[in-house]
Amino acid sequence: MEIPEPSQTHRLTHRPRRLRRTPALRGLCRETLLSADDLIYPLFLIPAGQKPEPIPTLPGQWRWPVDQVAEACAGYMAKGIRTVNLFGSAPDKDSQGSGALDPEGVVPCAVRALKAALPDLCVQTDIALDPYTSHGHDGILINGEIDNDATLDLLARMALLHAEAGADWVAPSDMMDGRVGVIRKTLDQHGHTQTCILAYSAKYASCFYGPFRGALETASLQGPSDKRTYQMDPANRIEALREIAHDIEEGADAVMIKPGGFYLDLVREAKNAVRVPVAVYQVSGEFAMMHAAAEKGLLDLRAAMIESLTCFKRAGADMILTYFAPEMAEILTQQPQSQQPQAQQPKVPHD
Ligand code: PBG
Repeated sequence: MEIPEPSQTHRLTHRPRRLRRTPALRGLCRETLLSADDLIYPLFLIPAGQKPEPIPTLPGQWRWPVDQVAEACAGYMAKGIRTVNLFGSAPDKDSQGSGALDPEGVVPCAVRALKAALPDLCVQTDIALDPYTSHGHDGILINGEIDNDATLDLLARMALLHAEAGADWVAPSDMMDGRVGVIRKTLDQHGHTQTCILAYSAKYASCFYGPFRGALETASLQGPSDKRTYQMDPANRIEALREIAHDIEEGADAVMIKPGGFYLDLVREAKNAVRVPVAVYQVSGEFAMMHAAAEKGLLDLRAAMIESLTCFKRAGADMILTYFAPEMAEILTQQPQSQQPQAQQPKVPHD
């Protein structure tokens, strides 16, 4: 075939492909760089003395006994993890979620163990009652309804317990009205002015939390059969901005959008609208979905991980909670300069 003379090519004004021709050019033009510092690893805890349990609904994830969590986290830190987010559990659940206020519960014990063994590890704790209530809700159930104000006092006491144990952040995920303000006030009154609050400000009533509820073994929901009276309607956007504004006004140090992948519009809106860091949670269903597709040979898991996490950053997230955190951190700390989200040309070495 005859190669056309330059004069025969079209005289295009714009040739964006010029900047994509080589890896070096693409590197120069890349707008978003993920860093291991952006990642937060969610961890599930069980009482001391048990064996670590693999979580059937979340491939590669474990429930860590409190007496082994520091060793596990030392391993994650070696991969580049600097922050973990702890989720508790209680085999004995009751209507008031009393386990949440037990100073010997798995979360306060794990925070103390981690702070003693790994003082440089940044520790966040989840604040919500659902792992501890017999009805599976995040708040107190009174006459068939979730009672907002009765729940606030419990959440504040739970946050105080975690702060006393040494948590750097408390992260209320319950979606009760006014909880950020009540928690801030309680922490301050007790001298914990340096404990940060990561507010799950726009947390949607999502079907993508299924594998997490399995991981935590929360009770099946009684009373209201879903969480729609406190978590947000996935159809709403303005309401998210309102929730975010309330939480900042009440003292949130950072705000979160959850779930992540289907809610990137909200991540960008939050980033443009507020002057505090924005967090996003790549939830259990998103993680499990990618694993399931990869198992079927439908996509490359590693490429999907890199691409999905890069997109959170591009959308405006400052911090990303993800079950991929250790794997991603390991890649980033080895080869921070050569991120390449495309499946076809992985620039990051395969293990
Ligand atoms: C509950 C809580 C949930 C998640 C974090 N905290 C589930 C729920 O609201 O029912 C979901 C996390 C995930 O799916 O990865 N307080």
